[in-house]
Amino acid sequence: MQEPIRPTWLEISRSAIVNNVHELKRIIGPQRKLMAVVKANAYGHGALDVAPIALDAGADALAVAALSEALELRRGGVDAFILVLGYTPARLARNAVVHNVRLTVCTPDNLIAMNRIARDMDSVLTVHVKVNTGMNRLGVNPEEVVPFLRKARELDNVRVEGLYTHFATADETDKRHALDQFERFLQLLAELDAAGLRPPLVHAANSPATLTLPQTHLNMVRSGIALYGLDPDEAQTPVPPSFRPVLSWKAEVAQVRTLAPGDAVSYGREFIAQAPMRAAVIPVGYADGFPRKPLNWGSVLIHGQAAPILGRVCMDQTVVDVTEIERATGPVRQGDEVVIIGRQGKAEISAEEAARRTGTINYDVTSRILARVPRILVD
Ligand SMILES: Cc1ncc(COP(=O)(O)O)c(C=O)c1O
Repeated sequence: MQEPIRPTWLEISRSAIVNNVHELKRIIGPQRKLMAVVKANAYGHGALDVAPIALDAGADALAVAALSEALELRRGGVDAFILVLGYTPARLARNAVVHNVRLTVCTPDNLIAMNRIARDMDSVLTVHVKVNTGMNRLGVNPEEVVPFLRKARELDNVRVEGLYTHFATADETDKRHALDQFERFLQLLAELDAAGLRPPLVHAANSPATLTLPQTHLNMVRSGIALYGLDPDEAQTPVPPSFRPVLSWKAEVAQVRTLAPGDAVSYGREFIAQAPMRAAVIPVGYADGFPRKPLNWGSVLIHGQAAPILGRVCMDQTVVDVTEIERATGPVRQGDEVVIIGRQGKAEISAEEAARRTGTINYDVTSRILARVPRILVD
């Protein structure tokens, strides 16, 4: 393993990414394309590491949220198909033309302004039109799509390659709303067929729809969370057991100290020892994505056992209780491995478990791990 340049790091499993891409490709079959969603630094996993591995393993395309993320991939040598899923102001579209990045459009003004930019460059910008079928976030409403695409036809410097929608509830057991959304999208596609306006690529499915609603696969699926081996929803739509989590978050013990009764730990003296204790300092804090409030991680793993957090999580450091661990397994020493996400011996803290403890979802847990935590590729 490459030596981490900090005493806390993420291990990103190459074989888990390859496995998950293969599983997704097996689920969608050979006729459909897989778009690997690598926005938000690949949900915290490191987009420049994940993207080439996913592409080599068979992903056909990449998606990001912002043009800046696409340009970072281009600067890193990734020359694959990239679609920006979020809003791009027309004033930034020049970079998309130069670097051959596909943009999402969802208003006629945006489309017309982008056409002007591409015309001034004597070039053509490729776009995908996002349709709002019930998420009510970005998207052209279905009844506006025909005039929108007719307008696009008149513009020489934008090419509408794709049309897509996004589900609000595909991760829930009750699929009715997702299927209503899909029905709206299918009706629209029938209208577009009749009008000769259907773009070549149509896509709708995110990870949960990819896993549970095969009828929504269309030409391509856009999968993020399942690519990372994480559950779209732990209770309602877990990934099948054949998927493997890609990320582990580790650290090493920075210092171990003995606390006497009455000794307080960390800012604000919120924790006060009632008896003699042993405490380990770990070099991880809220500026790494290890939250402080309202809920913290609760505990980390040392020697395969839970080490509960003592007092407040600081910006770069946290103190944990190793009293019971030392009784059970012997002294904890500087340099001993700490697991924040992942397995250690028989114990595990999954991203889903961390999400439950911190009152959020696994997407949020991994994507908030900050860039200063080095990402190390492992097999
Ligand atoms: C438009 C769009 N498509 C696909 C995805 C991927 O979703 P998931 O990670 O659930 O696969 C997202 C993620 O939020 C998205 O915004």
